[in-house]
Amino acid sequence: MKLAVVGTGYVGLITGVCFAELGHEVVCADKDSGKIEKLRLGEAPIYEPGLQEMLWSNADAGRIAFTTDLAAAVRGSEIVIIAVGTPSTATGEADLSFVERAAESIGEALDGPKTIMTKSTVPVGTNARIEAIVASRAKYPFRVVSVPEFLREGYAIRDTFNPDRIVIGTDRAAEIEAIVELHKPLTDRIFVTDVRSAEMIKYASNAYLATRISFINEIANICEKVGADITQVSAGMGQDRRIGPHFLNAGIGYGGSCFPKDTKALIQIAGNVDYDFKLLKSVVEVNREQRNTMIRKLREYAGSFSGKTFGIWGLAFKPNTDDVREAPALDIVSRLIGEGARVRVYDPAATANFRSLLNDPSIEWCTDPLSAAKGSDGLMLLTEWNEFAEVDLRAVEQTMNTPILIDGRNLFGDKIGAYSRFWYYSVGRPHLN
Ligand code: UGA
Repeated sequence: MKLAVVGTGYVGLITGVCFAELGHEVVCADKDSGKIEKLRLGEAPIYEPGLQEMLWSNADAGRIAFTTDLAAAVRGSEIVIIAVGTPSTATGEADLSFVERAAESIGEALDGPKTIMTKSTVPVGTNARIEAIVASRAKYPFRVVSVPEFLREGYAIRDTFNPDRIVIGTDRAAEIEAIVELHKPLTDRIFVTDVRSAEMIKYASNAYLATRISFINEIANICEKVGADITQVSAGMGQDRRIGPHFLNAGIGYGGSCFPKDTKALIQIAGNVDYDFKLLKSVVEVNREQRNTMIRKLREYAGSFSGKTFGIWGLAFKPNTDDVREAPALDIVSRLIGEGARVRVYDPAATANFRSLLNDPSIEWCTDPLSAAKGSDGLMLLTEWNEFAEVDLRAVEQTMNTPILIDGRNLFGDKIGAYSRFWYYSVGRPHLN
C-alpha cells in the first residue's frame, strides 16, 4: 500500500519505518526542513534501538522517503496517517493546533478517495472534528479512523511488531477492511470499536499505568515506615493474575512525553463534562511529591547542599532513550543547583538533549559513570540504564568524597550490602547500609 505519514516525531517516524519494513511504500512529511534533511541523509533524529539500521535499509530499498511537501505526500497515498504532536497547553489540555492544521492541509490536498488514520493521542471527539475540517475542504470521499498508538520509547520497534492489541475506532465498520489488512501482519488481536471509545482507550490506558506507578510508590513510602520491602511486596502482588507483574516498580516516579501530558489532559477532558477525576488528580500529585522525597532523602544524609558537589547518574526519563521530556533529572538538577550545589552528570544517550533544556555553569558534563561520581558528596541514580548496574561499586565508593548513594530506581538492592562504606537509600526498602 502507499502510505503518507504526517509528522516525523516519535510515533510518526517509528510508524513510517515499521510499515516500510513490512513492504509498504511510505512517504513521511514534516514541516521541519532541518529534520527532513537529516532523515534524507539517513540520520535518525531520535535514539531508539534498531531504528537507525531499519531506516537505512528501507531508504536503500526505496520504500521510505521524506518530504516537507505534505500535499505531495497525500496525493501519492491511499492511506494518510496523522501522527503530529498534541503537547500540553498551560492549563493541561491537549493542544490540538497541529492536528487541526494537518487536517486542513490533508483536506486541501485530497485528490481522490482516501482513508485518514489518526495515531496522535487526541481527546474524545477530535476525530469527529478532523472529519469536519477535512470535509469542509475535500472534493472527494474519505473516512477517518482512529488507531491509537501504544508503543513505549526504548522498545518502540519491538512493540510495533509485537503489539498486545491494535485498536481500530470507526463508526463505519464495514469500510475498514484496508486498515485491518494493513495491521494483520502485526497481530490477529485487532479490536474494532467506535471512534470515541478508541480515543478513550488510549487515555484510559496511560492513566491506568500512571495510577499503578503512583499506587506502588505510595505503598513503598508506607513500606519504609513499617519495615516491609517494596520489591518483595510488588513481586508478591504481581503473582496474582488479576494484578499482573508490570508497572509495579517503585522509584522516583514517571516522566516522559506521555504519562504527564495524558494524565493532565484526561483530568481536563473529565472537567469539561463536569466530572471531577479525583483519583487521577492524586496520581499526578503523588508523582510530583515522589521527586521531592528524593531531594529530602539526600538532605537527610548530606545536610545542606550549598557548596557541595553531587553526582547524577541518568538524565533520560527512562533507559534506552535519549528523551528527557518531563524527566525527573530536570527537576532534581535544577533544585540542587538552585540551592548552591555543583553537579556532575552522566547519561549514556541523553546528555545533548538535557543540555539543550538545562545548561548552567554549575553542571559538569561527564563522559562516564565513574567521573560523575568522582569527588562528590553524594550520588543520585535517576535512570536505571544497564550500564550503571555493571559499574564497579568499589571504585565508585573509593572515588567519592562522601559515599552517599540515593538509588531512585532500586537498581542495586541487596548488592550494596557488600560495600559497607556506602550510605545507601533505595525506595521503599529497609536500610541496607
Ligand atoms: C507510555 C506507555 O507505556 C505506552 O503504552 C504509550 O504508547 C506511550 O506512553 C505513549 O502514550 O506514547 P513511555 O512513556 O514510552 O510509554 O514509557 P513507559 O515505559 O510506559 O514509562 C513511563 C514512565 O513510567 C517512565 O518514567 C518509567 O521510568 C516509569 N515507570 C514505569 C515506573 O516508574 N515504574 C514502572 O513500574 C514502570
